[in-house]
Amino acid sequence: MEQHELNGQLRPHLLLFPFPGQGNMNSMLNLAETLCHSGLHITFLNSDHNQQRLLRFTDAQERFSRWPTFRFQTIADGLPADHPRSVSTFFEMLNSMKATAEPLFREMIIAARQESGQWPPLSCIIADGIMPFTIDLAEELKIRAIIYRAISACCLWTFFCLPRLFAAAELPFQGDDDEVDMDVPIKSVPGMEGFLRRQDLPSFFRTKDPNDPVLQKLHAENQQMTQVSALVINTFEDLEGPILTQLRSQVPNLYTVGPLHALSSRRQHSSSSSASNIAASNSLWKEDSSCMAWLNSQLPKSVVYMSFGSLVVYGKDTLMEFWHGLVNSGKLFLWVIRPDSINVSGGEGETILAEVVDGAKERGSLVVEWAPQEEVLNHPAVGVFLTHSGWNSTMESIYAGVPMICLPCFADQQVNSRFVSEVWKVGMALDICDRGTIERVVRDVMEQKREELVESIGGLAKLARKCISEGGSSRCNLDRLIQDLRSINLV
Ligand code: UDX
Repeated sequence: MEQHELNGQLRPHLLLFPFPGQGNMNSMLNLAETLCHSGLHITFLNSDHNQQRLLRFTDAQERFSRWPTFRFQTIADGLPADHPRSVSTFFEMLNSMKATAEPLFREMIIAARQESGQWPPLSCIIADGIMPFTIDLAEELKIRAIIYRAISACCLWTFFCLPRLFAAAELPFQGDDDEVDMDVPIKSVPGMEGFLRRQDLPSFFRTKDPNDPVLQKLHAENQQMTQVSALVINTFEDLEGPILTQLRSQVPNLYTVGPLHALSSRRQHSSSSSASNIAASNSLWKEDSSCMAWLNSQLPKSVVYMSFGSLVVYGKDTLMEFWHGLVNSGKLFLWVIRPDSINVSGGEGETILAEVVDGAKERGSLVVEWAPQEEVLNHPAVGVFLTHSGWNSTMESIYAGVPMICLPCFADQQVNSRFVSEVWKVGMALDICDRGTIERVVRDVMEQKREELVESIGGLAKLARKCISEGGSSRCNLDRLIQDLRSINLV
């Protein structure tokens, strides 16, 4: 029998390729680790830039080296090392990936298909659907392809509803930006008729141009998702069931395998004696774990944890509104402010950050540059998560049973925030960012509304735990995916 044969079939060798953002890379690394448990050969294609940071700030090299069937490979993202790689340059990052990585990726696939020796030939690519060139290449080179999306089903479904929104003239918004009433209800997204407003649609829907390049890109991605053999997303049936039903009308072979951070850690720790049930870190910044000792000295549910993910940047005014809102709320806070997240020119940004750091310390609170977020969310001292509603943060907060205060900034965050506050009722949304609103809502969630929110999110947390346990929906979908990957044909 050939070295790489299993019951007469070639052992699967998958190549996983995330968009090089923290949120996308995190969840796909969690997926990779979960697949390693099943003995599949995995090549994880990271950008050179992210791989250097991942190995510098985490134990990922050592952690993954225990899997003989796992390897990292890297690819250039075409950007200089000091490029900001933040929300303001998001589309530049995407375009650079396509321009630089596409030809390199083609060569890698061709080489990987002819692998011999220790690695079986490449049998399938699981690529981030935000980089359609990866799937196009796989089809051209006749390699099976699966799309992975790092965002919620509810956001994906709004992408598929773009044609309906334009046909019903709900898009584009008529009038000048400051004249548009963003509270107007949206009726053309099936399953969201009762609560979706203009302001809850993904931020890039606000264009006046129906031929906007970003909308054209979304149409192309939608088309690709309906044609590819399978779509894998980081959510769970009990969370987004009704929207998943809508989505499956377009993409029947859809695998929900979330919360991936928990599924990965559960499988990781079920195969080792380690007590903690927190996934190991995949951070691209150095985590300041001193915040854990600080949390240990706080009363239960007494702390506001605030973090806006890896891409958001703050202007000076926004930063000041958050600062005064938090301080005036009278609550202790743990605030993550990445050094690259203050969009203030010259030395003023550093001065403001230093004042916020010192001012927090004087008031018994704490500001760090980057935190071990999953550990923080699972700490008993944390009472609420003030978040931008990035999907990984949202899933981590639900799994940890921590109510949220949502201030969405861009992309999928608006619709995620609307589901948190209006559908799942596990948090409150900040529709505007001013100190008075922040103070009021923080007090609401930490005091009057605490009971109902904790009970509500506790119920969702239980469902999340159930779905990744033996016989749970995400676990079964993962097993089905692995069987499909092992079989010669993906349906
Ligand atoms: C991006 C988009 O902004 C988001 O809208 C989309 O849903 C996913 O891609 P990001 O902004 O980085 O993601 O936010 P999020 O999805 O929440 O991912 C952030 C990740 O960084 C989380 O896994 C979180 O645990 C981690 N994190 C964040 C830390 O480990 N430490 C921190 O201090 C902050």
